[in-house]
Amino acid sequence: MDLRRILQKCAEAIVKHVEATFVRVWLLNDDQEVLELQASAGMYTRINGTYSRIALGKLEIGHIARKKTKYVNNDIVHHSRIHDKKWAKREGLVAFAGYSLVIGKRVIGVVGMFFKHSITRTILDTLGSVADAIAQGIERIRAEERLRQLSGQLLRSQDEERRSIARDLHDSTGQDLVALATMLGQLSGLTPSKERKKRLLISECNALAEKCIREVRTLSYMLHPPVLDHAGLEDAIRDYAKGFNNRTGIRVELELSPRVGRMEREIELALFRVVQESLTNIHRHSGSNRAKIRMYRNSGLKLEITDIGRGLSTSEQRGKEEPGFELGVGIPSMHERVKLIGGRLEIESTSHGTTVRVTIPFGGKRT
Ligand SMILES: Nc1ncnc2c1ncn2[C@@H]1O[C@H](COP(=O)(O)OP(=O)(O)OP(=O)(O)O)[C@@H](O)[C@H]1O
Ligand SMILES: [Mg+2]
Repeated sequence: MDLRRILQKCAEAIVKHVEATFVRVWLLNDDQEVLELQASAGMYTRINGTYSRIALGKLEIGHIARKKTKYVNNDIVHHSRIHDKKWAKREGLVAFAGYSLVIGKRVIGVVGMFFKHSITRTILDTLGSVADAIAQGIERIRAEERLRQLSGQLLRSQDEERRSIARDLHDSTGQDLVALATMLGQLSGLTPSKERKKRLLISECNALAEKCIREVRTLSYMLHPPVLDHAGLEDAIRDYAKGFNNRTGIRVELELSPRVGRMEREIELALFRVVQESLTNIHRHSGSNRAKIRMYRNSGLKLEITDIGRGLSTSEQRGKEEPGFELGVGIPSMHERVKLIGGRLEIESTSHGTTVRVTIPFGGKRT
């Protein structure tokens, strides 16, 4: 749930539990000069009206924020700093309570509440604690958002890095090795057949160069298959599964619906990485000699990678670190990638096998 919706729920809860006429939450914008309305519950629910932006220090709300203070008044029509007293009288408003939302020494916003009845000290104290809890909550959500953005950036730069290493390996080292193999072939042709030892040595060098070519190709492909960019996920999965089968001997059955079509580059790459990590895990951990990849559309996009191996332990499935158990990078990183494209990843596992399942709702990509 995003911050605005959470704040709206908080405002609604305050309206309900202390019978406030309306409750509003403003947050200080990035340049710390304007309070922007984020939530409004009760009599007013619009957040783009007259008081949607209040400069720091202006009106009662701006004043509360600048002074990092609170302001409460049980007789606003006669004795308050609320500037529109006529409006307050017309609406039958009696009391106001405003609290700055403060983290350490930093003000991050204000919560303001109006009542048609006077408010007791006990309620005021409680509202003060509620404001503190809201401030802590906002800080936590923002920290989580920053963390998510950071891990997104990390994954993206890792992808870029892999893409560029893959290209360099293929275009530079790979091409040089091909040239080397060709020259060794020519050298062999120029060497008289009676110089058997020399020819043998050259042919061994040639075999070694060919092996290096294959390895560099595989490495480059594993880092970033070019087919993913130009032909799309379906072809990249087919290609990868074939190479995986050659390398490991594990048979991979494919059920890829042609209805899936092309998707955004970021989504295709994330799904490809899930396939890659799941197959690697199957090879390294499952003991299974078969795997199956299914991809289809129903109410969204589904991708499943299944094996018939020994399965994960329960703590591994939950992805939590527990004593005596080392959590790898693969599963958490799959979770993170899928979250970044607005999807969900589940792992279902028994002692008879494991399924990694990704679901992406239509239009699901989060920005
Ligand atoms: N298909 C599978 N079958 C059985 N166990 C699995 C399977 N996939 C993962 N596991 C278990 O879950 C653990 C965590 O997997 P994860 O991919 O996060 O880390 P890893 O593969 O050990 O290391 P890496 O960080 O290189 O991926 C593995 O160590 C393994 O014990
Ligand atoms: Mg792994």
